[in-house]
Amino acid sequence: MPLLACILPVLTFLCQPVLGAVETCVGNQAHRFFGFLTNWAGGLFARCWENPAEEVPESASEVVGAEETLSVIRSHLNDDSVGIIGIYGMGGVGKTTILQRINNEFFESGRQGSFDLVIWVTVSQTVSIPKIQKQIADRLGLSLSCSSTEEDARVLFKALSDKRFLVLLDDIWRAIDLQVEIGIPRPVRRRRNSKIIFTTRLSQVCDDMGAKSIKVKPLDEVASWELFSSKLRTKEVILNNRIRPLAEKVADKCGGLPLALITVGRAMANREDIQDWEDAVNALDHRPERLEGMDDQVLRCLKFSYDYLKNDNMRSALLFCAMYPEDEKIFTVELIRYWIGEGLVDDENDGGEGSMNDARRAGQALVNKLLDACLLESSWSSIFGAEVKMHDAVRDMALWNNKVDGFLTCHSIIRREDREHIKRIFLWGSDLEEYARFNPDVILSCSSNRTLLLQSVRGLPPPILQGIASSMKSTLRVLNLSSSDTWGELPAEVGLMVDLRFLDLSSTEITSLPKELGNLVKLRQLILRYTLVLEQIPQEAIAGLRSLQVLDMYGTAYDWEADPRGGVDGGRQLELGDLEAGLPRLEELNIQLGTPRALERFLNSVKLCSRTRDLRLGMPHRSQSKDPPLYGKGGSLLWTVFSRTGRSLKWLELNGDNAHPWEGELRISLDQLPLLEDLYLDSFRSERMPEVVLVGSNFNPRLSTFNMSNCDGQKVLKLVGAFPCLREIHLYRCRIMEELALDEGVAAGIAEGTQNDAGLLDRHFPMLREIVLVELPALKSIGRPPLRLPELRSIKVLACPELRRIPLDPAGVPKLETIEAEQKWWDTVECAGSGGHDTKPVFENRLRPAIWSVGDG
Ligand SMILES: *[C@@H]1O[C@H](CO)[C@@H](O)[C@H](O)[C@H]1NC(C)=O
Ligand SMILES: *[C@@H]1O[C@H](CO)[C@@H](O)[C@H](O)[C@H]1NC(C)=O
Ligand SMILES: *[C@@H]1O[C@H](CO)[C@@H](O)[C@H](O)[C@H]1NC(C)=O
Repeated sequence: MPLLACILPVLTFLCQPVLGAVETCVGNQAHRFFGFLTNWAGGLFARCWENPAEEVPESASEVVGAEETLSVIRSHLNDDSVGIIGIYGMGGVGKTTILQRINNEFFESGRQGSFDLVIWVTVSQTVSIPKIQKQIADRLGLSLSCSSTEEDARVLFKALSDKRFLVLLDDIWRAIDLQVEIGIPRPVRRRRNSKIIFTTRLSQVCDDMGAKSIKVKPLDEVASWELFSSKLRTKEVILNNRIRPLAEKVADKCGGLPLALITVGRAMANREDIQDWEDAVNALDHRPERLEGMDDQVLRCLKFSYDYLKNDNMRSALLFCAMYPEDEKIFTVELIRYWIGEGLVDDENDGGEGSMNDARRAGQALVNKLLDACLLESSWSSIFGAEVKMHDAVRDMALWNNKVDGFLTCHSIIRREDREHIKRIFLWGSDLEEYARFNPDVILSCSSNRTLLLQSVRGLPPPILQGIASSMKSTLRVLNLSSSDTWGELPAEVGLMVDLRFLDLSSTEITSLPKELGNLVKLRQLILRYTLVLEQIPQEAIAGLRSLQVLDMYGTAYDWEADPRGGVDGGRQLELGDLEAGLPRLEELNIQLGTPRALERFLNSVKLCSRTRDLRLGMPHRSQSKDPPLYGKGGSLLWTVFSRTGRSLKWLELNGDNAHPWEGELRISLDQLPLLEDLYLDSFRSERMPEVVLVGSNFNPRLSTFNMSNCDGQKVLKLVGAFPCLREIHLYRCRIMEELALDEGVAAGIAEGTQNDAGLLDRHFPMLREIVLVELPALKSIGRPPLRLPELRSIKVLACPELRRIPLDPAGVPKLETIEAEQKWWDTVECAGSGGHDTKPVFENRLRPAIWSVGDG
């Protein structure tokens, strides 16, 4: 891009306030001219900014001593005779870091390079072609049919053929025919300005793939010492001339491998005692048995850092991460729940007396320590909270170390003699009956005594669960059966697992809980989320759980006011009063309430109200006209919900009460819901509630997702005020919705003469990334002045035939990447920028054509 073309728009952009002022003074003619200028410039500006690469987080191992390798790669990138570049070297030598650097150079420099698109793809040892294809499709803004990889390969091939692309493939273990298997066009002579770079541990792969190969060499002595000593936290080592030679020896034993230098450096970071350093030299001399594809030296060093972790709990917590599939991101929230379940974070001898919040904080501290030791890496942090990853070489060390905290997963092959070391089992998406390797006998023969995670596992008839429960009865602490096929009743034997601390039965088809569940007196977290057919809960199953701190019954079918009382066997069923009177340690409750009586009962309990985090009100299929209105007269009960639970709610879903339509507008103010993160409105069908108004707040509300669906009575949705954390707005199937007023606050401000149009919304929706509008047959407007949404990345508009104009201006939505819409809608829609100018050409290349058929969603 010529320099001038980039500078000019920047200038114009910077001058916008001035132009704005001129505009207001000079009147229409000038207005139009300047409008045009801003648009045109804005367009170029946006295009200059359009980034060919997406940033990837670089791992802890900074690029040290890799300048030489990097410059060879850069020169190959400029060399027309090179199409594929293979970077090889042993695990831990820093290949991925180099690839990340290349990617991020393109990211940082924006368009400077010669590629339209730089695509990062993680491959890893268990190659999954669909996963690779998906990563590429996502970057291209395509959705794949996923019916066959060949078909998808054709789609990708077509899309990539007319682009100058750079594909970066991390961690390949076998030669892959990129064109045939995946759909990445081979960079042949006429397509020389496209390139592929990959990393691998095996030089053979480079040859097999016809790549120009580059070996990443270990660091020399000087660079090694520099990296190693930079990880130390005490000067003593460097200054003391008795310790220094030992430290240099330790660094030397790391074989110039950055990962080894870093982790060993961190392990020794605070040691000032000469004896410690002598021990370290000896420990690093100890030869571990060989592991294929891995250099002993890395292994030895990583094992060393692992051994040097402060205590067994930390080691065990680290090994837990290795159980997740290679290169998979791990949600720290989930990890910490499991750690708490296993008793790794708060002192078990205190009987886990601490609060769940303290335990979570301790869990987070443990994550931080492992990050600090560089044995975990932080990954993309997304809306869901921080995520971590394990370097594949660290994971290899953990796998090799399988005799301690051994585990079994879908991918592991366990020798019979190793079964006794199995402490954790993690199976997902498999059928126990189909694969002999996972057959129940294998599970039962492993003396797994801590954790059993069976996710989306089919073939778990009651006898198997009974067997599992009986054989692991006195040791199992964590059991997650979410989404697995559990065949109706949960067997009574579950009550035998008296050491259980964590039980997750989410999204299972369990219909009843056994009384014996009440024996689990150490249970701290019971998760029954979305158990859609769970109807029987005997009082004894839950009321006496004296250690229970988290009870999640969000989205269960259980009816708190079922009539007549009593289950199939005549025993008393669980009531809200039992939760109040029992459960002395209850800290967090997630619940759904479908009747006004239940809601009133709930609202009368200070304990339950103050501990509720996720709340869902109304179950449309249940509401009966003989009941009084769910939300009370004039919504009075809802206002009470806000005042009594508002300060603790994180997630709120309100469903319309069709038997008793709401009268008047529904106004929800975030001032009352300061911690709320997710808000869902569903099935408000009454036309007597013509408007929904969501009022933001200046007190930093946390709302991040707003979703309104199946609301057929409302013509207008207004968002008024500031929403500093809002990231997503979803509107689905609202049949008469005509207007989404995001600019309501602006309009009000202008009317009062206190604000002018530009800049206001920057502050109102500073984080909004995504707007989704689906099946809104009457929607006409999403605002008049161009939207100013500085973080907006994507808009999806499907089946909104009346929306003829969208107020988009490149300067107002500088980060907009995709507009997902039907081509025929796009062809006729008007994009209006500031001054009403046509901005469509600017956005043309962001269109991601979609096909909509009724019933999708
Ligand atoms: C249980 O497993 C599911 C499926 O992997 C996971 O999404 C969920 O977070 C786990 N449960 C908890 C409470 O961590
Ligand atoms: C768990 O199993 C391991 C290995 O089989 C054993 O050494 C340990 O004592 C067991 N722990 C408990 C609490 O049973
Ligand atoms: C919003 O609600 C609709 C309808 O319930 C649902 O299909 C969609 O997945 C929801 N969006 C999010 C982000 O949860």
